[in-house]
Amino acid sequence: MRETLETTVVKFDTETDVGHLTLNRPNSLNALSSQLREDIVEGLRLLEAENDADGIALRAVVVEGTEGNFCAGADINEFSKGGAGASSEHTHYEFIRDFPAPIVAKIRGYCLGAGLETAMACDFRFADEDARLGLPEVDLGIIPGAGGVQYISRLANPAAAKEIAMTGDHISAERALDLGIVNRVPDDLDEATREFAEEIASKPPLAIQAIKDSGNVATQTGLREGVQYDRKQFESLLDTEDHEKGAKAFAEDDYEPEFKGR
Ligand code: COA
Repeated sequence: MRETLETTVVKFDTETDVGHLTLNRPNSLNALSSQLREDIVEGLRLLEAENDADGIALRAVVVEGTEGNFCAGADINEFSKGGAGASSEHTHYEFIRDFPAPIVAKIRGYCLGAGLETAMACDFRFADEDARLGLPEVDLGIIPGAGGVQYISRLANPAAAKEIAMTGDHISAERALDLGIVNRVPDDLDEATREFAEEIASKPPLAIQAIKDSGNVATQTGLREGVQYDRKQFESLLDTEDHEKGAKAFAEDDYEPEFKGR
């Protein structure tokens, strides 16, 4: 499947079961317009529709920007008209966070403001060594409007988060890696992201969904409640066909399980 929406390109690779969503507004360094936010959600919906009665087809998604930049933030032209800044426009972050398949942000070039907030809503961030990340909203007299300070405080640490948001400085991929904002800064970004997405795509998808969900809950709840939540997820997975296949593969060397998400 390949669809070109107004501001995104969406592909699903049936060989690997990995979906690809490319932000495609190169003239504004992929700045997040209202249309782009809508097309991110629409693109993810199209990918999710690959799942059918036979089980879960879509196993992972890679989100990137076209022409060497991830995203230079909210579209400032709309912002000044009150468009992109309105809180009703924030749904694409929640859609990404709650999307059942894990999402990897593949970051080249600029990843600023709402672009970094979008990347932080994803499950993983792989960055090119030349990528520049930051929260420059302070210089517009505002703060990141979609929880950027909250997210970065959890990924890095509260003092580093305040430093990045108060200075508005762009930081290097290496510094972002040291702080825990990005997962990896590989030598070959394309290959490392592809290998990682394919590895996740080969795992039992219901367990992967449960881990994503539990990982999200872990940032919002106390330990006791979180452990109880995990226990329920664990128990519900015990009854799945994928668990049966995984256990069989462990017991029998020559059995290659094909996980269907059932
Ligand atoms: N919204 C709308 N358009 C943007 C944009 C944004 N966030 N960021 C860049 N663009 C546009 C520029 O206006 C320019 O358009 P033009 O060619 O029609 O003049 C084009 O993208 C290229 O940007 P330019 O500034 O010329 O590139 P640069 O390499 O000199 O600088 C940045 C790159 C990212 C440092 C700079 O564009 C920038 O600071 N952008 C704003 C970042 C920001 O504050 N984001 C948070 C918004 S809340």
